Amino acid sequence: MLQGGFPKGHVILVTGFAGTGKTCLGLQFLLAGAAAGEKGIFLSLEEDETALVDTARQFGWPVDQAIKSSLVKIVRLDPKETRGNITRIASEMWKELAQLGVQRIVVDSVSLLNMLSDDEPSRRNTLFALAAACRGAGATTLLTAEANPLHRETTRDGLSEYIADGVILLDYREASDGHRVGLAVRVLKMRRTAHSRSVQPYTIGAHGIEVDAKAIDFGA
Ligand SMILES: Nc1ncnc2c1ncn2[C@@H]1O[C@H](COP(=O)(O)OP(=O)(O)OP(=O)(O)O)[C@@H](O)[C@H]1O
Ligand SMILES: [Mg+2]
Repeated sequence: MLQGGFPKGHVILVTGFAGTGKTCLGLQFLLAGAAAGEKGIFLSLEEDETALVDTARQFGWPVDQAIKSSLVKIVRLDPKETRGNITRIASEMWKELAQLGVQRIVVDSVSLLNMLSDDEPSRRNTLFALAAACRGAGATTLLTAEANPLHRETTRDGLSEYIADGVILLDYREASDGHRVGLAVRVLKMRRTAHSRSVQPYTIGAHGIEVDAKAIDFGA
């Protein structure tokens, strides 16, 4: 769908409703990187490290090994503590990321990050600083965000999709009677890429996310 994976250095937004696999995709992206010897960091504003490690383990990914060998680092940012530190996160922390030499970054989720800012200008500033810092660190970044229930092609905050270089929508497929019958992925945007516009079914199974027919290549 992406003509060869996530473009290197891009900031990619993964948007979707609850349970569509945004967190799983983030973990899968990091573990695929670790398998290729790439360092990655998972900045979690939602689930704690234990829960994320458990998720990765149940898919059979060698997460313990990756953490032990410092290829994967999971950092839990407590939203309560983060609130006063939003400027620090957007500025200083990203310098640290560059120093760590990470090639893959996941921020799960920017929806929560956005809730820490009181107004739109400061949300915009934080997101811009975040995206700039990730690009500056030379990493390929995956940000997750909640989809807007009224208009699923946009995020709840309505900002992240403009700041990101690419947007991937994880969505429910509904039958004509309104029943949810499965999951489907679409690439809404991918700067400088002749990406597919097809709607591709995917499953979350024993080994993680698998896109039917032509799989997304997480090789970045
Ligand atoms: N081992 C598994 N086998 C099949 N499906 C699974 C498995 N583990 C998780 N899932 C599916 O993945 C979903 C959770 O995915 P995930 O937590 O990545 O979603 P999310 O988009 O991050 O949701 P949220 O917005 O609530 O954070 C579960 O609701 C379940 O449907
Ligand atoms: Mg999640």
